[in-house]
Amino acid sequence: MRFPERSDLEKLVRMYTTLSQESMRFLRPYKFSKNEVRDMLERVDFKNVYSIVAEWEGEIVAEARLIRHSDKTAEVGIIVHDRFKNQGIGQRLLKEMIEMARKESIEKLIAFVNEKNSAAIHVFKKHGFEVEKRFSAERYIMGRDENALKLSLTLKEEK
Ligand SMILES: CC(C)(COP(=O)(O)OP(=O)(O)OC[C@H]1O[C@@H](n2cnc3c(N)ncnc32)[C@H](O)[C@@H]1OP(=O)(O)O)[C@@H](O)C(=O)NCCC(=O)NCCS
Repeated sequence: MRFPERSDLEKLVRMYTTLSQESMRFLRPYKFSKNEVRDMLERVDFKNVYSIVAEWEGEIVAEARLIRHSDKTAEVGIIVHDRFKNQGIGQRLLKEMIEMARKESIEKLIAFVNEKNSAAIHVFKKHGFEVEKRFSAERYIMGRDENALKLSLTLKEEK
């Protein structure tokens, strides 16, 4: 697990453009383009956007991103490539992101998840997130006319 570098672009493009329909189903209804992945990588500045990737045999197989919404609040997102799911990678990335958020004095983490995405809901809840609200997701964000959950975790000061 490490921070991404500019030279990771091709690896990230390969990861994002080869996600299965099942993974995309909970993300959005249209595919990632190379330009979009480049923009996503270029936005990583470790002030407003943070990222950690997991690598296996020279290929990036997962990414977690933390995107600041304000001084105190940030949104977390995780994607694990299909073949690597259910091996603990998502939870390791989430733990790293929670630690990073604490270090950056972020007080609240939020995540948006399709309400049918039971694996993601399980992972977030297992790490202390609670459902803050349920809402009707717009088609272009979550895909299809399904509901989404806003999950949140309040980070306490360490004593
Ligand atoms: C959600 C996601 C990040 C999880 O990553 P992962 O590496 O597979 O997660 P882990 O292996 O660490 O943990 C998976 C957990 O979910 C559980 N799980 C797997 N499938 C499940 C399902 N259909 N319903 C409920 N729980 C499920 C596993 O048992 C495991 O829990 P446990 O450790 O308590 O036994 C991954 O499935 C993914 O990338 N999905 C597509 C993108 C996405 O939806 N991201 C979340 C929105 S930001």
